[in-house]
Amino acid sequence: MDLMEYQAKELFAKHGVTTTLGTVVTTAEEARAAAEEYGFCVVKAQVKAGGRGKAGGVKLARTPDEAFEHASNILGMEIKGLTVNRVLVTPATPPVEEYYFSFLLDRANRQYLCIASVEGGVEIEEVAKTNPDAVKQIAIDPGSGVDEAKAREIATEAKFPEPVFEQAVAMIQALYTVFDEEDATLVEVNPLARLEGDKLEALDGKVSLDDNADFRHEDHAAFEIKEETDPLEAKAKDKGLNYVKLDGEVGIIGNGAGLVMSTLDVVAYAGEKHGGVKPANFLDIGGGANAQVMADGLDVILHDAQVKSVFVNVFGGITACDEVANGIKGALEILGDEASKPLVVRLDGNNVVEGRRILDELNHPLVTQVDTMDGAADKAAELAGA
Ligand SMILES: Nc1ncnc2c1ncn2[C@@H]1O[C@H](COP(=O)(O)OP(=O)(O)OP(=O)(O)O)[C@@H](O)[C@H]1O
Ligand SMILES: [Mg+2]
Repeated sequence: MDLMEYQAKELFAKHGVTTTLGTVVTTAEEARAAAEEYGFCVVKAQVKAGGRGKAGGVKLARTPDEAFEHASNILGMEIKGLTVNRVLVTPATPPVEEYYFSFLLDRANRQYLCIASVEGGVEIEEVAKTNPDAVKQIAIDPGSGVDEAKAREIATEAKFPEPVFEQAVAMIQALYTVFDEEDATLVEVNPLARLEGDKLEALDGKVSLDDNADFRHEDHAAFEIKEETDPLEAKAKDKGLNYVKLDGEVGIIGNGAGLVMSTLDVVAYAGEKHGGVKPANFLDIGGGANAQVMADGLDVILHDAQVKSVFVNVFGGITACDEVANGIKGALEILGDEASKPLVVRLDGNNVVEGRRILDELNHPLVTQVDTMDGAADKAAELAGA
């Protein structure tokens, strides 16, 4: 789960990272009231997307009336397709310098990675392109983590200036505690700001929590904001499906995360020939491809307004192809008229002959069978591109 800035800052405060919590509000009147308390302040859009400042979602306010006006403009604004429903009002503390700092899970190298740069601020992606040497990457061994010595090594490598060096060492350790103890996959501070008087403070925060560790963090459930979760993802979660919404037109259902991942690649590749169509989602129905699971999966995907066709890609193993075929048949019966988009089905593996026969016999107008994965991806992309 990705957290909003104000939630990330709550975790920062809990673990001793210097930050200012401010007040989260949903109306411009409340923003005015908060500004009366703070004086010179910042009004910041709370959405789970980067680039809020550039989109006009971060504004300084010198008076309560100005805070009211900014909040009126920012609330309801769309940033990267997300509607702003709340703003954070915090005291303005103009940065003298802005640094970038993050810890993240480096899956490829099976370790953690620290990325730090004293040329931070909003344009860190640009710095990484034009001046890659200014962006330091330091590997972290998850076994030994970040103790004071490692924090010093990071601060030295990143070239934190002398006046804030010791604060940086302490901040790095505290941020690592957030990363480690909260089971995060990302902890990012941009800007980590040097304020007047050489005080270091986290002015922004991004944290992604590892949902697989939810069982040991009862308090994390409180971070979920029901009305902000994508309705399709919420529905899939209710039904226990492994679903991630993406931004394309070809719905995908497969069994096994590896197969589904490669299906996304194959569809994206095939889509280039058909007007640039892309996969609409990741959905792994795992081993239990019975009628109800298939119906639940199709139910979620078919209600994605962007979806134009669906590719069901199953390799029969413990759950054999005939069971999957019966699952599809049952799902189409359960969904009735709600099933309204073409399905391209590719079955292979255990009991494939029987599985294909069942679907041939069904002879459903929406279902097309294709024997190969590439062929099926091409067909699904073609149907979505038409
Ligand atoms: N409390 C503050 N006081 C003064 N200036 C601030 C404060 N908070 C943020 N700013 C300024 O606003 C800029 C953008 O703020 P912030 O980093 O929170 O949003 P963003 O980076 O645009 O959004 P995102 O992190 O989503 O890309 C900062 O780089 C900083 O210069
Ligand atoms: Mg930022």
